[in-house]
Amino acid sequence: EDTERTVLIEAHELAAKFYHYLLNNTQHGKAAKDYLRERGLGDKLIDHYMIGYAPEQWDTLSRFLDNRKFDPALMEKGGLLSAKHDGSGYVDRFRSRIIFPIWDRDGKVTAFAGRIIGDGQPKYLNSPETMLFTKSRTLYNLHHARPAIRKRKQVVIFEGYMDVIRSWSAGVKNGVATMGTALTAEHCQMLGRQADEVLICYDGDDAGQAAAMKSIPMLEAAGMRVMVSMLPKGKDPDEYIAEYGPEAFMREAIDEPVSVTKFKLIYSRKNHILLKEEGRKNYLLEAAGIVAELDSAIEREIYLQELSREFEVPLEVLKQDCLIKHQELQ
Ligand code: GTP
Ligand code: MN
Ligand code: MN
Ligand code: MN
Ligand code: MN
Repeated sequence: EDTERTVLIEAHELAAKFYHYLLNNTQHGKAAKDYLRERGLGDKLIDHYMIGYAPEQWDTLSRFLDNRKFDPALMEKGGLLSAKHDGSGYVDRFRSRIIFPIWDRDGKVTAFAGRIIGDGQPKYLNSPETMLFTKSRTLYNLHHARPAIRKRKQVVIFEGYMDVIRSWSAGVKNGVATMGTALTAEHCQMLGRQADEVLICYDGDDAGQAAAMKSIPMLEAAGMRVMVSMLPKGKDPDEYIAEYGPEAFMREAIDEPVSVTKFKLIYSRKNHILLKEEGRKNYLLEAAGIVAELDSAIEREIYLQELSREFEVPLEVLKQDCLIKHQELQ
């Protein structure tokens, strides 16, 4: 087992360098590189994230590994190769894809994500779960980001690889992403050991906001203070930087997040038709419940004052309802 692990890590490390070489030095890699350039990734970023390219042939990596005497059955077990259906051998798992190496906490390459160039399905193909790679315990970029996370006691969570990479170049050195799956309690515990605060910076669409609503209680349960960055108009961080530039992203998204309470209030609002009496009432009841979750009476008062002004409801009335709900939660 232990030697299999060692051999598989060595194979992943070599494969990452090989794919990176193919991106930079081959004709087919050039098209992939042009695609990355168009998406705003220059050579420095491509090198730093060791981004690579897997050509369309079925045997590029399998020959490379074979020449180095790696056992193909083990390579299949590690997710680098796939067994042919007729059992006559092995082929490359990743073909015609941009390759993002995934590092474990110690900085060893233990998996890959492969993105299709342009449109198509699946957009990303990941390594399967192996003895090296467990999605529920892996955070993309954690190895790179750890010094900055520890120093600032803060971590930024994104949805996608490109969001992490693009925002790194904009100045966010403490960013990580889940592997396309939901945030797990294990992820939260890992982060909670290194940071006091987490900034959720998911895509600015409905899916991103729904994911943020799910992540908030999990991150809080791991002992972190949570803030939320709300990107406008369905953009994700990568798209936001492409459109408005890195300075605007840092200013609007990273330096001006909203509190969890504010975020929940905005999220709840969308479910109510505030032009109607009934909708206003239901929203206010829900809002009082959200504010009631706050421990501090001062903080509760601040949010209630805002609601009172906007909806022209006496503050004392809101406070009464909120206090009842607060006591119910204790
Ligand atoms: P780009 O289009 O390259 O910018 O990707 P994105 O990160 O913006 O994609 P999206 O917001 O759709 O998805 C967020 C993350 O979910 C991705 O970074 C992946 O980790 C994951 N994901 C998206 N599509 C797929 C898929 O088809 N398969 C798998 N396994 N994961 C996916
Ligand atoms: Mn290089
Ligand atoms: Mn999305
Ligand atoms: Mn996205
Ligand atoms: Mn994107």
